[in-house]
Amino acid sequence: MIFYFSATGNSQYTAEKLADQTNDKLVSIGVALRDGHFSFDLTGNTYLGFVIPTFAWTLPGAVAKFIEKLELVNAADLYVYGIFTCGESSGHTSAALSTMLGAKSIPFHGSFDLVMPDNFILWSDLPPEHELNSILSSADKALDAIILSVKARSPGYIDNNPPKELYMKTSLISTSGGSSNLHVTDACTACGTCYALCPMRCIQKDGSGRPVWEGECTMCLACLHRCPHEAIEHGKDTQGKIRYKNPFVRPVFENLY
Ligand SMILES: Cc1cc2nc3c(=O)[nH]c(=O)nc-3n(C[C@H](O)[C@H](O)[C@H](O)COP(=O)(O)O)c2cc1C
Ligand code: SF4
Ligand code: SF4
Repeated sequence: MIFYFSATGNSQYTAEKLADQTNDKLVSIGVALRDGHFSFDLTGNTYLGFVIPTFAWTLPGAVAKFIEKLELVNAADLYVYGIFTCGESSGHTSAALSTMLGAKSIPFHGSFDLVMPDNFILWSDLPPEHELNSILSSADKALDAIILSVKARSPGYIDNNPPKELYMKTSLISTSGGSSNLHVTDACTACGTCYALCPMRCIQKDGSGRPVWEGECTMCLACLHRCPHEAIEHGKDTQGKIRYKNPFVRPVFENLY
C-alpha cells in the first residue's frame, strides 16, 4: 500500500509510477483526511510506502494529522519506506516520519529524497520551462533507481535527528504571522474546485460560492496552484507568479488528490 500526499502532483506522479511497478494500492492522504478514513488492513501487502512532499524540512501538517489517527492491521512484517519529494532537500523529514511511525509501533526501513520542481512560490518563482523540464526528466531517472531499491527492500537512509517540530507549523511561513493569508480575487468564478480539493476542509463557501478560509490550513498550496482561474493569492507574495502542476499526473488529479 502507498499512502501519498500531493498538492501539485509531484508526489502523486511518484506514487502512481511506484504503484504501477510494485502492484500496490494507492491511498490519497488528502482524500482519507477529508473522508475521515484512518483504518487500513495490510494483510497480503509486502511494502508500505509514504510518498510525501517536504514542508520546511519536515512533514506537512496534514500528513502528521493523518499518521496520528492511523490504525493499521497486520503491518508487522512490511518493508516500510518514505519517499520525500522536495525542491532541494528533505532536511529531517525522514526522522520526523520515523518518529511519528515509531510512536505507533510501525517499523521504518529508511527513506529516499526525490528532487522535483519546487512549488513553494511564496518566497521565489518557478524556474523557466526548459529548466522545469530538465528537473522533471532527472527526477524520472532518479525515481527509476528508487523503485529498484524499494523492490529489493534495500535500506534507505535513516536520520536519527528528528526536527524540533515533527510537522510544519503554518505560522513559520505565513506573512500574516499566524493565519494563512490566502485570499480570493475578482477572477473567481465560484467553480468549487478549491473547496473540493482542500485536505483540511478549511475552505468554506460564502453566499456567492466563493472561498472563505476558516480553520487549520496546512499551507499545501493546492488551492492556490490549482484554481483554474488563478484567483487565489497569498498576500502579495504570489501576484503575477506562474502556478505549477506536475504535467504527467493522471487526470483524476483534477478533482481529487
Ligand atoms: C509549504 C511548503 C514548504 C516547502 N518546503 C520545502 C523544503 O523545506 N525543502 C524543499 O526542498 N522543498 C520544499 N517545498 C517544495 C515541495 O516539497 C516540492 O515542490 C514537492 O515536490 C511538492 O509536492 P506535490 O507536488 O506533491 O505537492 C515546500 C513546499 C511547500 C508548499
Ligand atoms: S478554484 Fe478558483 S475559481 Fe474556483 S471557487 Fe476556488 S477561487 Fe474560485
Ligand atoms: S486552504 Fe489551500 S493551502 Fe490551505 S490546506 Fe486547504 S488547499 Fe491547502
